[in-house]
Amino acid sequence: HYKIDQEFRRSILINAGLSLAGFFVTVKMIPVASRYVLRRSLFGYDINKKGTPQGTVKVPESLGIVVGIVFLVLAIVFQYFNFTADSSWLVEYNAALASICFMILLGFVDDVLDVPWRVKLVLPSFATLPLLMAYAGHTTIIIPKPLIPYVGLEVLDLGWVYILYMALLAVFCTNSINIHAGLNGLEVGQTVVIAFAIMIHNIMQIGASSDPEYQQAHAFSIYLVQPLLATSLALFSYNWYPSSVFVGDTYTVFAGMTMAVVGILGHFSETLLIFFIPQVLNFLLSVPQLFGFVKCPRHRLPRFNPETGLLTGTQDGTLVNFYLRVFGPKSEKSLCIHLLIVQAIGCCFCFLLRHLLAGWYK
Ligand code: UD1
Ligand code: MG
Repeated sequence: HYKIDQEFRRSILINAGLSLAGFFVTVKMIPVASRYVLRRSLFGYDINKKGTPQGTVKVPESLGIVVGIVFLVLAIVFQYFNFTADSSWLVEYNAALASICFMILLGFVDDVLDVPWRVKLVLPSFATLPLLMAYAGHTTIIIPKPLIPYVGLEVLDLGWVYILYMALLAVFCTNSINIHAGLNGLEVGQTVVIAFAIMIHNIMQIGASSDPEYQQAHAFSIYLVQPLLATSLALFSYNWYPSSVFVGDTYTVFAGMTMAVVGILGHFSETLLIFFIPQVLNFLLSVPQLFGFVKCPRHRLPRFNPETGLLTGTQDGTLVNFYLRVFGPKSEKSLCIHLLIVQAIGCCFCFLLRHLLAGWYK
């Protein structure tokens, strides 16, 4: 047991070192890539600054492509340094990377071609195929203790339903990050908060368990979440208010897919969904517009008042608008900070819930 601990620690530390290098490379590459995307007219106008001089500036789009590429390089190189790997680990790890890579490609296609909304929704289900086809893990769920008498089983094998669940999880994670957006810093900010929570969760679980397979599953997650966190922080420094770059759908779907993949292969997808509480709320508020019961405009953003410099909530069904309607007009920057704090509170709630329900799964 002691030896395994040592090996995990070594692999995690090397992964941290690689991630740190990735942070600096991303910081250096974003301004370079910005010049190139502008040359190809890949830019957006900052909508919440309409009516101000800043609102007429062309902000380079899709800088998530830098994060995606640096992330993939780190994740591929890391395999060489993973001392705890066995062959089945490598198959799943590479299938996960293929899914993430496919998702980055489709996200970039969306940024360049502006794919219709309905098509955009289902793209992630194609991107998960490499993972689903290579998945050799279990397809069972553990029944919570209080429910065992009613179900009559301790574990339930879901078979292909479980595979479908994994595909749906990827569709949800990618899209839900993409539509909780439209404020400078919000797309990356929410990812940074969730990725940080996932890291803490993994470290706690590795420490609490002595089962090598369970530890391996959580270490797997750390190996992918650490580079995600590091490269996202680099992007955050440019995307924070006032944004000098936009992240693009390349970033939102990449981040969502990476977190879905670690949730699936780390076997903590229920916990992951609780980290996504604000995204779930935003999705529920969005249902009428997403499914076409109410007209869905291209952008569902708050209204900017150039006189006060504050944002006011509109009738569009988003968490951003709902928050503004409940708590009153706010500046873009403080609204983003508020929503990131809400995200962090959601994560703390998840840890509390897990603590309270711990006995249910033992
Ligand atoms: C999703 C949302 C849309 C929201 C958009 C903002 C749904 C169904 N779609 O669309 O309502 O308006 O994200 O990203 O909920 N932009 C800003 N400030 C920002 C970030 C983006 O003004 O901080 C604008 C820029 O013009 C940028 C554009 O949004 O070019 C990017 O939009 P994109 O990510 O392509 O929109 P969607 O993901 O399709
Ligand atoms: Mg988007």
